[in-house]
Amino acid sequence: MHLTIPVLVFLVDLSFAKEYLSWKLLTNKVVFGQAIQLMCHLPKQNCCHNFTRSWEGGPDYKPLTLNEKSSNYTKYIEHLDTETGNSILTIKSFSESDVDILYQCSYGFSSYAAVLQLTKHRYEYHPTELVPVSLSLNGTHMYAKISLDKVFPKPQCNANANEKDITQESLKVISKRNGIFYKSMIGFNYIIDPQQCFGSVTITCMIGTSRITIAERTFSCHQIRSTFHGKHLAQRDFVASNSYNEESNIVVNVLIVLCVHFIKYTSLINFSN
Ligand SMILES: *[C@@H]1O[C@H](CO)[C@@H](O)[C@H](O)[C@H]1NC(C)=O
Ligand SMILES: *[C@@H]1O[C@H](CO)[C@@H](O)[C@H](O)[C@H]1NC(C)=O
Ligand SMILES: *[C@@H]1O[C@H](CO)[C@@H](O)[C@H](O)[C@H]1NC(C)=O
Repeated sequence: MHLTIPVLVFLVDLSFAKEYLSWKLLTNKVVFGQAIQLMCHLPKQNCCHNFTRSWEGGPDYKPLTLNEKSSNYTKYIEHLDTETGNSILTIKSFSESDVDILYQCSYGFSSYAAVLQLTKHRYEYHPTELVPVSLSLNGTHMYAKISLDKVFPKPQCNANANEKDITQESLKVISKRNGIFYKSMIGFNYIIDPQQCFGSVTITCMIGTSRITIAERTFSCHQIRSTFHGKHLAQRDFVASNSYNEESNIVVNVLIVLCVHFIKYTSLINFSN
C-alpha cells in the first residue's frame, strides 16, 4: 500500500505532462542574425479536432501567426509537423529585441506562455562591424585598434605573420561584459623584421564555433623599402639610400666627415696659395 501510492502519483503526473501544452527552443546553437525555431508540443488527444494554432509575442507582444498564416512573413513562419504534432515557429534574423520576452503558443483553448531566455543555451553574437579591417603600416610598424561592440562568447584571437604565430608578442584582447554579450578591444602592435619579407599578417578570432578574420594586411619588401624611401625624401635625406635608418645615418656621417676633410683640405690649399 505504501509502495503503490507514489507509483500512482508518478503515473498521473506523467500523463498530465504528456497532454500539457508547452514550447521550447528547438535551435541548438542560436546565432544572432540567423533564424531560430521554437517548438510547441500540441496535446495528442486534441490533434484531430482541427483547433486553431497560434503564436503570440515578439517585442510588442502581438499575434505572430494564426495556423500557418503570418502577421509578417519576413520575420515569422509557422508550420505544423503532422507526424509529431508540433507547431514550429521560425523567427528570422534573430535579434536582441527578440530575446528575454514572452512567447505564447495556443491550441484551441489551451495556451502556454514563457520568456525566451538564452542563459541556459548556447548562443553566439558575431561582430556587426565590417571585418576584416586593414592593418595600418608605418615603416616596419604594423598596428591596429579594433573595437567589437558586441560579441559572444569571448573571442579567442590569434595573430599570424605568414605561418608564424605572433600572438604573444603582438596581440592584446580585453573583453568586458556588455549585457548578455561582451565588448572586446583588440590591440595589435608588431614590428616587421625588415630582413624578412613577410607576405601577410592576419588576426583571426574564434567566436564560439565560428572562425572570423578580424584584420589582415599583405605587403611586399618593396612596399617596406618604398615607405623608407618616402620618409628619406620627406626628410630631404639622400635619395640614393634605399636601406634603413641606421645605415643611412652612417652614409650621412661619412659624407659629413668627407665634407669636413674636403673643406679643411681646400682651405689649406687656399691658405698655401
Ligand atoms: C481537419 O483537417 C484535415 C486536414 O487539414 C481535413 O482533411 C479535415 O477535413 C478537417 N476536419 C474538420 C472536421 O474540419
Ligand atoms: C516585418 O519584419 C521585418 C523584420 O523584422 C521588419 O523590418 C518590418 O518592419 C516588419 N513589417 C511589418 C509590417 O511589421
Ligand atoms: C609614422 O612614423 C613617423 C616616424 O616615426 C611618425 O612621425 C608618424 O607620425 C607616424 N605616422 C603615423 C600615422 O603613425
